[in-house]
Amino acid sequence: MDTTKPVRCLLSYSLLDSALCLAFADLVRCIMSKSGAMDLASGLGGKIDKSDVLTAVEKYENYHGFHGGDEEERKANYTDMVNKYYDLATSFYEYGWGESFHFAHRWNGESLRESIKRHEHFLALQLGIKPGQKVLDVGCGIGGPLREIARFSNSSVTGLNNNEYQITRGKELNRLAGIDKTCDFVKADFMKMPFPENSFDAIYAIEATCHAPDAYGCYKEIYRVLKPGQCFAAFEWCMTDAFDPENAQHQKIKLEIEVGDGLPDIRRTTKCLEALNQAGFEVIWEKDLAKDSPVPWYLPLDKNHFSLSSFRLTAVGRFITKNLVKVLEYVRLAPQGSQRVSGFLEKAAEGLVDGGKREIFTPMYFFLARKPE
Ligand SMILES: C[S@@+](CC[C@H](N)C(=O)[O-])C[C@H]1O[C@@H](n2cnc3c(N)ncnc32)[C@H](O)[C@@H]1O
Repeated sequence: MDTTKPVRCLLSYSLLDSALCLAFADLVRCIMSKSGAMDLASGLGGKIDKSDVLTAVEKYENYHGFHGGDEEERKANYTDMVNKYYDLATSFYEYGWGESFHFAHRWNGESLRESIKRHEHFLALQLGIKPGQKVLDVGCGIGGPLREIARFSNSSVTGLNNNEYQITRGKELNRLAGIDKTCDFVKADFMKMPFPENSFDAIYAIEATCHAPDAYGCYKEIYRVLKPGQCFAAFEWCMTDAFDPENAQHQKIKLEIEVGDGLPDIRRTTKCLEALNQAGFEVIWEKDLAKDSPVPWYLPLDKNHFSLSSFRLTAVGRFITKNLVKVLEYVRLAPQGSQRVSGFLEKAAEGLVDGGKREIFTPMYFFLARKPE
């Protein structure tokens, strides 16, 4: 007879109990707290009038392949498509990810939050940012990486973003962090930057320039505003060499990521490299960092993974959020259309995990490139 069985049962029950208690506590916290469900509901739709959210969702979805849209139309209307996406998705991002909206290379034993910060420090170290330097963050979100890099390197970072709602939120967070005197935000399109030539000592982009309708056009602008002899570094979202455009399953995954993440078309890593050279950069080194990540970058979203520290990103956490949004929409605390947003974000999570597992997609194709003297 196995005498340890009752003890093991008790242990597993108490673990299950603790997990359920924590999930319940998170549920209560997410309803009551700042950055909780009420903020998710009130932020949903961003700058879009609450009564227009459903129409905006429909317009957004119609840009994509799953709903009959095509790539040329998405590229021609990238500003509208991307801004609608971020107006609709930002409060979900902040609710799930916190202030930094990106994946990260991760070591065993490292928490998701630690890995996200280290991923940002890595960029600052690669660029060799020095105290007092003027740095540009291209496509800065609500400024999580901007605040971290500014404090890490004691530099002045300008966040460039075309989404009004994210800038309003970012300014509020900069003020709270006490860095609003040295760091600022500029609302503009990274394809047409409102800065003179040779303005910045360093430039970086984290999972943002994938929204550009054309990589060369975007890198050329970055090249123009960077000082000669200085560097640009980025983490790009790309299809890898393993992606086969003739494979229907690969194409489905690509479409899921595009619709779920506001992308006109996901480029191959080789296209980014070509565009950098064409824009005039010398590429110092480049690598898909996903290949060396001991903990896969997509793990937080994987259905088979459970974590209390990143609970809201897990399949259970997302299931709770989905139902919470359903209730909030039903009682009219969240605008009509909110459930549809949580639906396409769920599709994105599935596409990202599948793309990551098959190694046909990476969110961390890294390069360090220099503008010649
Ligand atoms: C996935 S988010 C990443 C945000 C930020 N880098 C971070 O890691 O937290 C992509 C960002 O790019 C911005 N973006 C997309 N297209 C843009 C454009 N044409 N001009 C300026 N910003 C843009 C979006 O508004 C969003 O803030």
